[in-house]
Amino acid sequence: MRILITGGAGFIGSHLCDRLLSDGHEVICLDNFFTGSKNNITHHIGNSRFELIRHDIIQPILLEIDQIYHFACPASPVHYQYNPVKTTKTSVMGTINMLGLAKRVNARVMLASTSEVYGDPKVHPQTEAYWGHVNPIGSRSCYDEGKRVAETLMMDYHRQNKVDVKIIRIFNTYGPRMALNDGRVVSNFIVQALKNKPITIYGDGQQTRSFQYVTDLVEGSVKMMNINNFVGPVNLGNPDEFTIKELAEMVVDLTGSASSIKYLPLPQDDPVQRQPDISLAGKKLKWTPVIKLKDGLEKTIDYFEMLLKNSNIKDYV
Ligand SMILES: NC(=O)c1ccc[n+]([C@@H]2O[C@H](COP(=O)([O-])OP(=O)(O)OC[C@H]3O[C@@H](n4cnc5c(N)ncnc54)[C@H](O)[C@@H]3O)[C@@H](O)[C@H]2O)c1
Repeated sequence: MRILITGGAGFIGSHLCDRLLSDGHEVICLDNFFTGSKNNITHHIGNSRFELIRHDIIQPILLEIDQIYHFACPASPVHYQYNPVKTTKTSVMGTINMLGLAKRVNARVMLASTSEVYGDPKVHPQTEAYWGHVNPIGSRSCYDEGKRVAETLMMDYHRQNKVDVKIIRIFNTYGPRMALNDGRVVSNFIVQALKNKPITIYGDGQQTRSFQYVTDLVEGSVKMMNINNFVGPVNLGNPDEFTIKELAEMVVDLTGSASSIKYLPLPQDDPVQRQPDISLAGKKLKWTPVIKLKDGLEKTIDYFEMLLKNSNIKDYV
C-alpha cells in the first residue's frame, strides 16, 4: 500500500515510518517540522519506498494514497501552548483536510486522538464510553477541545460521506526520539537525571500516570488500521499505574544519578489520575502492551544519553 503519515517526522510518526517501511509499504512522510526533526527520519532517505514532504496540514494537499495515519499535531503542553490558535487550527483544519483527501481518493484514515479528550476524569479507569470532563476555556483546551472536534469531524464524515475512518485515543507514550525539550515527565526526569540536576515534581508526586512504550502503540495502531468494521474510538495505553514519585525514583535508579527531588506547585488542570481501560482493544484488536516500564525506560535513557553527548544544547530542562 501507499501510506501517508502526517506528523511523520515526529516522535511517534517516525516510529510508524520505520514499522510501515519494514512491513514493505510505500510511505509518504508529511511534516511541517514544528516539533518533528529530520534526524528522526534521515535513515530512510535514499529508500525508494520513502518520500518526505514539507507541508502544513492546515493547507489542503492532494496525494494518491490508500491509508492515512493522521498524527500531525504538537503533543506536549510546551509545544501546543506556544501558539494555541495554531494548535486548534492544526487539529480542526488539518483533520478536515485529511478527511477531504480520504474522501476524494477513497483512503482509510485514522486519527491519533488522545486521552486528553477525557480531561480531568471523574471515572477511573477511563473507558471509551466516558464522555470526559474537559475545561473548554483553559490553557490546555486548544489541544483537548481541538482533538474532541477532530473526533467529531471523523464521525460526521463517516456518517455523512461514508469515509472509512478510525479513531485511536492514545495515552501517555514515551520512548526514543521524544524531543529533548518535550517538557513531559518522562523526558524531563531522564534529562534532569542524566545531568545530575534536581528532578522536578509538580505537586506531591502522588498523582498517578500510566506510560506506554512507543512500539506497543505502533503495534496497536497498525492493528487498528487494518481491522475491518470497527471505527473506534479505542484506547491505546498501558494500564500499569505508577505515581510520579515512583517514576522519578526509577529514573534515578536506572541512570545511577546523583539527582535530588524538588517539589513545585501543580499547574492548572493537571489531572490527578489517568489510566486507560484497554479491554476494548484487547477484545477487538487482540492487542495488549508488552513492554515493561523499566525496559522501555532503559531504551529511552540510552537514546537521551546519546543525544546529550552529541548535542550542544545544554540547558533545555
Ligand atoms: N506522545 C503522546 O504521549 C501522545 C498522547 C496522545 C496523543 N498523541 C498524539 O499523537 C500524535 C503524535 O504525537 P507525538 O508525541 O509524536 O508528537 P510530536 O510533536 O513529536 O509529533 C507531531 C508531529 O506533527 C508535526 N506537525 C505539527 N503540526 C503540524 C502541521 N500543522 N502540519 C504538519 N505537521 C505538523 C510536527 O512537526 C511533528 O513532527 C499527535 O497527534 C498527538 O496528539 C500523542
